[in-house]
Amino acid sequence: MTQTLTTRSRARSQQWFQRAQQSLVEGVNSPSRGAAVYHPGPVVLERGRGSHVWDADGNDYVDFMMSFGALIHGHAHPKLVEVVSQAMAEGSHFATATSAEVEAAERFRRMVPSAELVRFTNTGTEATMLALRLARAHTRRTRFLKFEGHYHGWYDCYLLNGHSYSPEEIGSPENPMKIPDSAGIPPSTFDEVVLAPWNVVSALERVMRDHGRELAAVITEPIMANMGCIPPRDGYLERLRELTCDYGVLLIFDEVVTGFRYAPGGCQEFYGIRPDISVFGKALGAGFPVGAVAGPRPILDRMRWGEDMVLHYGTFNGHRLTMKVVAANLDLLSADGTYRNLHAIGNAAIAGLQAVFRKRKIKAIVQGFGPMFQIYFTDRDAIHDYRDYCKHVDTRRYSHFVHLLLERGIYMTPSNGLHWIISTVHTESDVTALVEAVDQACAELA
Ligand SMILES: Cc1ncc(COP(=O)(O)O)c(C=O)c1O
Repeated sequence: MTQTLTTRSRARSQQWFQRAQQSLVEGVNSPSRGAAVYHPGPVVLERGRGSHVWDADGNDYVDFMMSFGALIHGHAHPKLVEVVSQAMAEGSHFATATSAEVEAAERFRRMVPSAELVRFTNTGTEATMLALRLARAHTRRTRFLKFEGHYHGWYDCYLLNGHSYSPEEIGSPENPMKIPDSAGIPPSTFDEVVLAPWNVVSALERVMRDHGRELAAVITEPIMANMGCIPPRDGYLERLRELTCDYGVLLIFDEVVTGFRYAPGGCQEFYGIRPDISVFGKALGAGFPVGAVAGPRPILDRMRWGEDMVLHYGTFNGHRLTMKVVAANLDLLSADGTYRNLHAIGNAAIAGLQAVFRKRKIKAIVQGFGPMFQIYFTDRDAIHDYRDYCKHVDTRRYSHFVHLLLERGIYMTPSNGLHWIISTVHTESDVTALVEAVDQACAELA
């Protein structure tokens, strides 16, 4: 059971955070973890087991952030603890060929429909970088299309309109304003990027008519997961697949969030669409840092050693201990009923939250389905794209709401751009705890 409000103190978290500022930039290792998001500072977590985490003050939370979705089996899963201990005792990494990477790759290929070959990286960012380099080499074109509001890691050329900006700043859908998300990137980098609104077929048709022949790739998250959770409109991904084929453009699915979450083979299996290249991360490693690029031989083989090769090095590629975890993780995910349960628990949470918002007469929607969803405080019935998100979502109210939940034993990031995650270890009682906490938080919000 989670603790009641009256027993919670976060004094030790605050002490650690103050101390952290002496040695770490902003006291954290990523801006999404610090005072820009958590007020007055982050909850400092010390341990986790199953669906629960405990902070430095000993407070217990049900974790619905799950390391931004990396922890598909929750914390300290006994099978993975065993695999890690054994692999560590044998030697964690050799930076050369191992049987572990073969076993991981074979399982990966069995699960992901478009994966004739796979190359492992260490993060999702590395994988999206590599995917673009492969697409450019394969097509001998350099420009690519990126959608507003999609995040593909922190590689220079992807850092356009990945944050939300005010409606006045973002330009019109026909002529979206390119807004860099980071300083330090040469403006010429973005000359190679065609920026377009997502989830609107007419806008897609227009941009492909204007630029299709010069594009190496279109990169998309199949479900937009960095403005909360925005599923594609019916037929959108199908039309994207048709148009990319028509113009000889490679379609890259960034499944870093959706991979191994919606179905064994990710959204490409769920929606029945075959991308040319797909990219994975997060849930693939069940808490360990790993990414992957997958696709057909003629594209992936561009990395073979020789003239005109696509270079991809990395000391930690195919890290032995991580590969052992990947193989064990994929075996766990392959068990009967895994995805049925993920969807059932997620849908129960969504229904429970919707009922609370209705009962409390709070203008909020819960969007998404099954293992991933987001709450938007909005008077709209749905949020369909980046522009809806920038214009119609009250992200401050959401942050306040999540801070109320943190006080009630629910762990989640207060950033509205992320999403709630259901893992294989969440239970009906976790859903009950969530719904009760949300009901209490709503009483305070109203
Ligand atoms: C869709 C998507 N692609 C790529 C990345 C980058 O992955 P990583 O953080 O492992 O570098 C992320 C990270 O959040 C992501 O959400």
